[in-house]
Amino acid sequence: MSDLVRLEVEDGIGTVRLDRPPMNALNAEIQHGLVAACREAAERSDVAAVVVYGGEKVFAAGADIKEMETMSYTDMVDHSGLLQDFTRALARLPKPTVAAVTGYALGGGCEVALACDWRVAAEDARLGQPEILLGIIPGAGGTQRLARLVGPARAKDLVLSGRFVDAREALAIGLVDRVVPAAEVYTASRELVSRYVGGPSYAVRAAKEAIDRGLEVDLETGLEIERQLFAGLFATRDRATGMRHFVEKGKGPAPFE
Ligand code: CAA
Repeated sequence: MSDLVRLEVEDGIGTVRLDRPPMNALNAEIQHGLVAACREAAERSDVAAVVVYGGEKVFAAGADIKEMETMSYTDMVDHSGLLQDFTRALARLPKPTVAAVTGYALGGGCEVALACDWRVAAEDARLGQPEILLGIIPGAGGTQRLARLVGPARAKDLVLSGRFVDAREALAIGLVDRVVPAAEVYTASRELVSRYVGGPSYAVRAAKEAIDRGLEVDLETGLEIERQLFAGLFATRDRATGMRHFVEKGKGPAPFE
């Protein structure tokens, strides 16, 4: 894994820590590092949920413009797959994920946040897709995931203008889910996913997959995805534990492993 991206595990939560001061600009090394960190977080049994965090000052100000400036069309044909891979790796992580957004989440940085299940933002955070101001468009999933999250009209407002939104507006349009004082962003993000530690991990994974895959297909296909995942859970320990706990009138949450 790259030094610019670390997976730090504590109390069942993995923090994918972006660490490339001053702005966590996402160069190719950090993009590869994100893919590797997501793979490790997916595989490790001591990671139940993931927080993506860029530190106290900034989440990420986008793909590294200095690295891209000299790229040709053919360079970008080769590189653009990686641009989508690092956000896809995050979106497909079979565990709950939250972006802890401090400072700027712009361009590829905003796209990283969009690929998480939830976003917690600092009161002074600013988010946006300013690629248009560079003569390009979002290339790490932004045109697709932003439109799915906030609707096409709001996505076009942000992507076509490149304007930044503050945390209050981001909350109002559903781009972020919670706004907290800057010093509390990381703790609040951990709290949001801590309920999944020691929970029914197979059922959580199936629920996330059913919702995400269902959003990409028609209703009947989505219902079939749900039906298969639902039936599949009857082969898991989670299902046996959860139902036995209820039938035997167990106290408190079921003792999932
Ligand atoms: N790539 C490379 N370097 C970047 C960067 C980026 N995306 N964002 C900031 N930096 C660098 C600056 O060049 C500067 O470097 P130097 O100290 O060597 O000059 C340093 O980080 C600090 O930045 P500023 O001096 O600009 O700081 P500021 O506080 O005045 O402004 C900012 C902060 C508003 C984030 C501003 O830096 C900015 O607008 N950054 C670019 C944002 C952007 O356009 N992001 C989209 C990138 S394209 C993309 O992401 C494509 C995609 O979809 C994958």
